[in-house]
Amino acid sequence: MHIDRSRLARLRAEEAKLFEELHPRSAELAHEASRSLLSGVPMPWMTRWPGSFPLTVASATGSRFVDVDGIEYDDFCLGDTGAMTGHGLSAVADALHAQAKRGITTMLPSADATWVADELARRFGLPKWQMALSATDANRFVLRLARMLTGRPKICVMDWCYHGTVDETLAILGPGGEVVSRPGAIGPQVDPALTTKVVPFNDVAALESALADGDVACVLMEPALTNIGIVLPKPGYLDEVRRLTRSTGTLLVIDETHTICAGPGGCTVEWGLEPDFFVIGKPIGGGMPSAAYGMSGDVAATLESILGGDDVDVSGIGGTLTGNALSLAAVRATLSSTLRAEDFERMVPLAQKWTDGVRQGFQSVGLDWHVQRLGCRAEYWFCPPPTSGAEAAAAVDHELDAFMHLYALNRGILMTPFHNMALFSPAHTVDQVDRHTAVFGSAVRALTGN
Ligand SMILES: Cc1ncc(COP(=O)(O)O)c(C=O)c1O
Repeated sequence: MHIDRSRLARLRAEEAKLFEELHPRSAELAHEASRSLLSGVPMPWMTRWPGSFPLTVASATGSRFVDVDGIEYDDFCLGDTGAMTGHGLSAVADALHAQAKRGITTMLPSADATWVADELARRFGLPKWQMALSATDANRFVLRLARMLTGRPKICVMDWCYHGTVDETLAILGPGGEVVSRPGAIGPQVDPALTTKVVPFNDVAALESALADGDVACVLMEPALTNIGIVLPKPGYLDEVRRLTRSTGTLLVIDETHTICAGPGGCTVEWGLEPDFFVIGKPIGGGMPSAAYGMSGDVAATLESILGGDDVDVSGIGGTLTGNALSLAAVRATLSSTLRAEDFERMVPLAQKWTDGVRQGFQSVGLDWHVQRLGCRAEYWFCPPPTSGAEAAAAVDHELDAFMHLYALNRGILMTPFHNMALFSPAHTVDQVDRHTAVFGSAVRALTGN
């Protein structure tokens, strides 16, 4: 069904006005913040929220948060996965408090490091691990290691992927199939075509041809795209990726920073994947900055034989605060108290119910949208199901996004800002899903005049 753009613009303006009326204190604080913070925010993406200023959060607990105007929200964004465990976990707070008093960072291992690595190995099946402070860093480190191990200069990523602020990955396919910088990427170090090959997700022939020259160190990918809507792999696609990477001596890096939503072992365990490197960030520290990368026994054996010389401190892999005792205490507390099988047994049915409610909502007004779920993550998109990132990107509709987000926010529901994504923590409830279903239904009825 065609969206009436003038109706959409009018509805959006009404919601923008309501947002300003509801949040006088956030408006004041945003005004004060613009005195000393660039664009009034501590991090550029925080300008991407749908109102004319960002909400200031007073507190966040479980699946809810309260803003400085005293309004409570159901949080389906969960810090874009950073708080997938729910906010303010007491196990994490206690561990942080106890560890902070015993020292935060010494550049020596704490005993928690071994507990964490043992647990990561048990969960994800890769035997050896290293820590990082963000998934971005973990990906950067793995790309360096892959280039060193293979002696090859390039990496290969999926069109419209996102793996953090990693230079080599901010690349897409241009209109003629050439590699170009991703729109919005600021100040690329070099032309990304020099460092990166880009292939469409779900396209085996394109991957085969990208790897044929033997100049690709690794394929870095999510097992399902999650950053341009959710795009699931076609049956057999990931097997072909593994076959082609093995037959061409290319390492396979699976980034499960978001796809941990599929289950306690991520897609790697759910779907029986066999990566050479595995990256995880965001939720493993219950919100504390922490990430990790794991590697196969073969990779680890080679690395242990060549790393560790006198110049390891200037290798480009490290970070003075990486592996600090506070982050490790947070990861230990998180992995021992949440993101377990029993948590997913709660979270996944909630995501399914949310998906059913959204589908019913757009179908009942005749909209040809789709909604996709992967474990405890679900997302709707304004087109029939895409099979590649480019198809999903072509359906991005910023005006529609802004209206849907603002309409939800004004009724106490926070969605993830760059997506129409909802994520579920163990703290979410059926009531929250029902509230979303009702609000989504009234938004699409307002939009279509039904
Ligand atoms: C798949 C994936 N990998 C890595 C990252 C980077 O995470 P961070 O920004 O915490 O470094 C993201 C962020 O959204 C992501 O979606």
